[in-house]
Amino acid sequence: MKVTFMGHSCFLLEGETKILIDPFITGNPMTKIKPEDINVDLILVTHGHADHMGDTVAIAKSSGATIVSVFELASYCAQFGVQTHAMHIGGSNRFGPVQVKLIPALHGSGMVDEDGTIHYLGNPCGFVINLDGKTVYHSGDTGLFSDMGLIGKRQPIDLALLPIGDNFTMGPDDALEAVKLIKPSVVIPMHYNTWPLIAQNPEEFKQDVEKETPARVVIMQPGDSYEL
Ligand code: NI
Ligand code: MN
Repeated sequence: MKVTFMGHSCFLLEGETKILIDPFITGNPMTKIKPEDINVDLILVTHGHADHMGDTVAIAKSSGATIVSVFELASYCAQFGVQTHAMHIGGSNRFGPVQVKLIPALHGSGMVDEDGTIHYLGNPCGFVINLDGKTVYHSGDTGLFSDMGLIGKRQPIDLALLPIGDNFTMGPDDALEAVKLIKPSVVIPMHYNTWPLIAQNPEEFKQDVEKETPARVVIMQPGDSYEL
């Protein structure tokens, strides 16, 4: 499986099927990719904040991809005339060659209209994705929670995508604890350095994780790919 980082929390997984997660592309200072150039089968959205919903609806329209998220977020997207598949926390479903399971996340989820009206979009979530014989966990935006220990206990995680930016999510110290609980083989840090508020040094995170756990940390620049 080819894993491409598109900046912030956006990843493209290419195997037997193509999956895009949290496509914040327009307005993302970290990426140069154009949304209209992206062709995928599924778009997984962890929660309803602009830096994760991003270009979800536009890419679903242009590529014909199905949006997968919690019921509230999927229903919100459906009003724009796109394909959606609603799920919820703890549930899994097979989409052709890929199995997707929704994992809890400790965060918020809501979109604010131009007039300030807030649309609550259900629980935020993370995803466990089984594709090409590999297992990827994208945590979405979340704080640290001890039940992360269950994720790696149910099935070994080959790759964990975890936020380290702090302020809105786990910072590097809590992300290190998350790695100890999840026990993944490889970790790619995300949700940092997009803006000054979430500036972090990923090299320090890498040193700490590789000193204290058997996991390997791969630091990616937007546009970089990693073969899993
Ligand atoms: Ni968020
Ligand atoms: Mn975010």
